[in-house]
Amino acid sequence: MDKILFNDSIVQRDKLIDIEDRGYQFGDGIYEVIGVYDGNFFMLDEHLERLERSAKEIRLSFPYQKQQLKERLEKLVTVNQLKEGVIYLQITRGEAERWHHFPSDDTKPNLVAYTKLEETLMEEENNGAAAVLTEDIRWLRCDIKTLNLLPNVLAKQKAVEHDAVEAIFYRGDIITEASASNVFIVKNGEVYTHPANNYILNGITRRKVLALCMDLGIKVNEETYSVQDLLTADEVFVTATKLDVVPIIRVDQQSIGTGYPGKITQKIVEAFRASVQELVRSS
Ligand code: PDD
Repeated sequence: MDKILFNDSIVQRDKLIDIEDRGYQFGDGIYEVIGVYDGNFFMLDEHLERLERSAKEIRLSFPYQKQQLKERLEKLVTVNQLKEGVIYLQITRGEAERWHHFPSDDTKPNLVAYTKLEETLMEEENNGAAAVLTEDIRWLRCDIKTLNLLPNVLAKQKAVEHDAVEAIFYRGDIITEASASNVFIVKNGEVYTHPANNYILNGITRRKVLALCMDLGIKVNEETYSVQDLLTADEVFVTATKLDVVPIIRVDQQSIGTGYPGKITQKIVEAFRASVQELVRSS
């Protein structure tokens, strides 16, 4: 894990970023976390497309050919011999004297990508986990995967302090998503999840789960639902890169459904695992 991708080259990890990097000072940048299973990327194209979109939305020039970036990320996984984990990749608006407005056009964005070991949460996937509720105090462009994560950090800390796997956000009365994952509920055999608009990040895992539900003949409603709907749901689950699909069996000490992972969630967990197996087999 001692090599990183720094702009165009794979170098030793000790490369330092300048104190006037705009990501460091303003959170002025974007990122992706891409899952790696047995050395294989999961939905890499979709992650790179989202990265490109995030760059466009914050008006950061994206000076990379997708194919070239893809090849470099593949090389990084190979040289670091990453089997189970993620690639963390971020691009900032570069290094410049600290003024809030954009730096001059000749300022080069800084791209850094590194590998990180991370196991799938098997125990939580099998047995379910707890979550807490917390107010969504984020800005109104949660669809952009930016480095500004302070509300998410505070929310996740609250979850950890309550032995919970996630903090689920509500904005007004509406459940949006969680601190680092998307949220789904199951009611009368149908799945509900917040529509992919500016209030949530359109997760790559979320998209996969929607496709799997289609295959399984499970109806999905991309509709808003309330805190009360969540608390009285038959099943709840969250999805994210490497977290995969985790059943939520308790929210703020209140049991969800039977208090055990529900049947539909279990089907989706199985289908997701099968799709990962398929990826590994076909590589
Ligand atoms: N987070 N919503 C938020 C706010 C997230 O931060 C994430 C992922 C997701 C799920 O997206 P995906 O399925 O594409 O991973 C939803 C990553 C894992 C992170 O910040 O570490």
